[in-house]
Amino acid sequence: EKDGYPHFMLKEIHEQPTALRNTLKDRIIGDTVDLDNMNITADYLKDIKNISIVACGTAYNAGLVGKELIEGLLRIPVEVSVASEFRYRNPLVDDKTLVIVVSQSGETADTLAALRESKRRGSKVLAITNVKGSSVAREADFIFQTIAGPEIAVASTKAYSTMLLGFYLITLYFGQLLGKEMPKELYSGLKELPILADKIIIETEKQIESLIKPFEGWGDSFFIGRGLDWHVAEEGSLKLKEISYIHAEAYAAGELKHGTLALIEKDIPVIALATQKDVYEKTVSNIKEVKAREGYVIALAQEGDTEIGKSVDQVLAIPKVPSLLTPILTVLPLQIISYYVATSRGCDVDKPRNLAKSVTVE
Ligand code: BG6
Repeated sequence: EKDGYPHFMLKEIHEQPTALRNTLKDRIIGDTVDLDNMNITADYLKDIKNISIVACGTAYNAGLVGKELIEGLLRIPVEVSVASEFRYRNPLVDDKTLVIVVSQSGETADTLAALRESKRRGSKVLAITNVKGSSVAREADFIFQTIAGPEIAVASTKAYSTMLLGFYLITLYFGQLLGKEMPKELYSGLKELPILADKIIIETEKQIESLIKPFEGWGDSFFIGRGLDWHVAEEGSLKLKEISYIHAEAYAAGELKHGTLALIEKDIPVIALATQKDVYEKTVSNIKEVKAREGYVIALAQEGDTEIGKSVDQVLAIPKVPSLLTPILTVLPLQIISYYVATSRGCDVDKPRNLAKSVTVE
């Protein structure tokens, strides 16, 4: 059932182009997203004052990207909460709030409890979930189904990328319902992602030896970036921690100098994401701060970036897409690097210690 792959995680990493294709299928027609089967009406949406995204683990990291998309394109205020915190802090949600819960399994106890608490307070709940008929799917008012297929490996990969895709589609769809002008290049860009995902997976595996070498012998590492890159850095660092047990910190690149730079020492592995055009120069100057302390920097940059190579030790080129769409592509090399770093250390990546695929206790 592993189709010849040594681990489910590697199989699922490779299934992402197909998972993305299946999740997109019939949902973009020309320049229009069709999610009419969610049964959300324009009248309901126009009445909403804020959105609250609630999730755990990798699904929470997907929510961080979701917030940027919704706030950026729809200008609706969004809060993102980890589910285990949400319900115990008297959350600011009511009948004018749309709560979006994100859960691969649809059975995570913390997330389910947050869903119920939101409904008790009068909010309607949209679930982004992968498992049909799950508890979350049954209890939510609206559903966006990711079509990733069964995810067996504990560390989530294809669920994350399809959750991200879900947020893009939902945001564009909401924009249409609200009569807002949505950037046309996103529609065609989304449709290209499956092919580009395939490309970056192949390219990363080609370079994998040199990409994992810097981690040899290290117990610490950093992932940095700004904006969307920062949120993907969060997911990259979670992946590495979960399966290789190397301590990894994800930092907003501009925040490093406010304390964390003290931890950058000679040759410490630092993965720097630098794909966001509007903050590119700032990110590069943060990378230079790391290099000045002799950290070892692997940069993820957009294809055609001929500058960044001068400031870092290694570059991995990400196929060119609008800045807003990079997360689905940048996360792929991070998953692959984590996988190979972990297996090179002899870790059982499909069954990492102390982790369960879905946690049904609070
Ligand atoms: C954790 C898993 O317990 O639950 C993570 O180890 C996962 O990988 C998180 O991201 C949330 O799971 P779900 O099913 O609610 O998306």
